[in-house]
Amino acid sequence: MTSQTPEQFLLDADAVPEGAFREAQVERDGQPLWLVVTRYQGTPRAWLNVCPHAGRSLNFAPDRFAVDDRGRLVCAAHGAVFEPDQGVCVAGPCRGDRLRAVAVREVDGRIELDAASG
Ligand code: FES
Repeated sequence: MTSQTPEQFLLDADAVPEGAFREAQVERDGQPLWLVVTRYQGTPRAWLNVCPHAGRSLNFAPDRFAVDDRGRLVCAAHGAVFEPDQGVCVAGPCRGDRLRAVAVREVDGRIELDAASG
């Protein structure tokens, strides 16, 4: 049995089609948590919206992310490129680093934090 609170809700599942990158914000332990949410091979994934290079947000405008011609997320600040599977930086100034993953799940057409995963 799971308990759901409104704070766990991120996005409607329909808002994150395959290959899309969306911004979401929730609170965890009273602190705002800014996330980038995507869907890769049918599964939603999320990371903190914080680039491991210089700690900047990855997006260039609210809810707008740059994507290269191979569907990889490109940091708007200095161009680091992240693959959409594990969030590993594959090109740019922080090559080999990775985005910090946040566990999410898809339930009843909603993408939400997976609190069970901490
Ligand atoms: S802060 Fe993202 S590439 Fe520099």
